[in-house]
Amino acid sequence: MRGVSCGYGDRVILSNVDLDLHRGQVIGVMGTSGGGKTTLLRLIGRQLTPISGQVMFDGVDIATLDRKGLYALRRRMGCSSSARSSPIFRCSTTWPSHCASTPTSANR
Ligand SMILES: Nc1ncnc2c1ncn2[C@@H]1O[C@H](COP(=O)(O)OP(=O)(O)O)[C@@H](O)[C@H]1O
Ligand SMILES: [Mg+2]
Repeated sequence: MRGVSCGYGDRVILSNVDLDLHRGQVIGVMGTSGGGKTTLLRLIGRQLTPISGQVMFDGVDIATLDRKGLYALRRRMGCSSSARSSPIFRCSTTWPSHCASTPTSANR
């Protein structure tokens, strides 16, 4: 992701974030409670849309994907969730059905 800022309503949570993740890479996201870890994952799955900046997957800005493209993206990413509100990405699991039915926003 490049220069990504996002938030909820008027409240900015992440500001101007640059992040590169590569296939097969295992990373941990660490931070204080409320620091924005879950928000970061929501951006990657496009459950949340950036205010500015771009989230790219395989060279494609995921904001440009239609519903079909978004579902295909999520199937390729793989995601599992320990709870509805706290996604945990794994290497080969499938996106839970509740995520596939909410393609554009976590603001619910
Ligand atoms: N759906 C939401 N609507 C409004 N504010 C939210 C929402 N989700 C998270 N927040 C706020 O965004 C900030 C970051 O939250 P979050 O990404 O869940 O942090 P973490 O996962 O690191 O604990 C917190 O202040 C939290 O209260
Ligand atoms: Mg969290």
